[in-house]
Amino acid sequence: LTTVRDLYRDREKYVGQTVKVGGWLRNIRDSKTFGFLVMNDGSCFSTLQVVYTDQLENFSDISRLNVGASVIVKGTLVETPKAKQPFEIQAEEVVIEGTSMPDYPLQPKRHTFEYLRTIPHLRARTNTFQAVFRVRSLIAYAIHKFFQEQGFVYVHTPLITGSDCEGAGEMFQVTTMDLNNIPKTEDGQVDYKKDFFGKPTNLTVSGQLNGETYAMAFRNIYTFGPTFRAENSNTTRHAAEFWMIEPEMAFADLEDNMNMAEAMIKYIIQYVLENAPEEMAFFNQFVDKGLLDRLNHVATSQFAHVTYTEAVDILMKNNDKFDYKVSWGVDLQTEHERYLTEQVFKRPVFVTDYPKEIKAFYMKLNDDNKTVAAMDLLVPGIGEIIGGSQREDDYDKLAARMDELGLNREDYDFYLDLRRYGSVYHSGYGLGFERCVMYLTGMSNIRDVLPFPRTVNNCEL
Ligand code: 4AD
Ligand code: MG
Repeated sequence: LTTVRDLYRDREKYVGQTVKVGGWLRNIRDSKTFGFLVMNDGSCFSTLQVVYTDQLENFSDISRLNVGASVIVKGTLVETPKAKQPFEIQAEEVVIEGTSMPDYPLQPKRHTFEYLRTIPHLRARTNTFQAVFRVRSLIAYAIHKFFQEQGFVYVHTPLITGSDCEGAGEMFQVTTMDLNNIPKTEDGQVDYKKDFFGKPTNLTVSGQLNGETYAMAFRNIYTFGPTFRAENSNTTRHAAEFWMIEPEMAFADLEDNMNMAEAMIKYIIQYVLENAPEEMAFFNQFVDKGLLDRLNHVATSQFAHVTYTEAVDILMKNNDKFDYKVSWGVDLQTEHERYLTEQVFKRPVFVTDYPKEIKAFYMKLNDDNKTVAAMDLLVPGIGEIIGGSQREDDYDKLAARMDELGLNREDYDFYLDLRRYGSVYHSGYGLGFERCVMYLTGMSNIRDVLPFPRTVNNCEL
């Protein structure tokens, strides 16, 4: 079978030739002696129009087809200079592969995203979701390309782990224990020795700690995998299962870290604009007017930089605009992040040097002893898209911080070893993949950029 993508790419070669294409009907219009099928085969965004006539022996069967049916069409490709589409197929044969019921949930009209969320197994057949998931695939490829071209080693970090990298306690436990009959020790505690791994384990919230160990061997590495957070926040930006890209670089400080993040974001934007022009034009027209202008601007201008302390000064002057009032020491909420990036800087902005109390244990303590060498990248429409830092590379400082936070040193022995044997200054960050897809497509709900989203109270399919 030829794909619709091939027909568009090699049009000259196919014009006047007999081709065979398989696909699903998006629309069907018929009259007494002829009809049109509009089909999509998923190989590209464009649809293919097929003209069929009552010369075909199964003419009446074809005319009775419903939207969603699958067919294989054989016919001649002819150019149609006067029509919207550049060419069509004049069918010599239409093989009906699978009929479709009249209650097919995707009729040729606009459906709301809410409705489409109820049919995640079918929504990928719509224009919007074909665009989203093709762009999602391209972004993943662009990210690999970006890092591989610079010699980064892709490390597969484990999904089951005994540690809580972010220290937020938002973990999904992994156990084979019978919840109705939990083994207990003599003093009534859960007896994890009887569990599969012999200790408490959970799905990873981040591959960073494992990633750091490989950065101390390869210098530059990245992870790209699923991460899990049992955050009980029902927002348009949080999923329980999401993908994260975590580069980790030895001999890199916070400045190098930010430069890498900025270069990566620009690279991805450029790649997608070049490789998915139709999909991006579609988003610009139907999902987020102004998307293309914005992305083109971001790809060619410098990101802004502000320290947490400066950002808090700006926000405190505008506290009347916020539900949650800002003062030095509080964690920034999405409303504050969006205000900074959308109203103040009007472009992506790095916020650096957060108070140590609101950041994870592994971040490098600044000379003021109050803040850490952290960076968050905020972007318009979303807020935080990247979180990262320079890591604490001093054994004593790291151990002291872990003690302060009540972390058990033995559990993090491997991590402390990195500071015992050949410690070097190093940095890394985590890009939330879904938030990145939202940013590039203009889609405003994380549930619409995950093929099968898992959020609070929702684990369908
Ligand atoms: O800021 P976070 O928690 O940072 C880390 O996990 C570090 N270990 C990363 C590192 O330095 N290697 O998460 C990183 C990013 C966030 O900026 C956000 O984009 C995304 O992951 N993220 C989520 N995306 C969707 N749903 C959630 N529940 C998310 N939590 C974080
Ligand atoms: Mg963060």
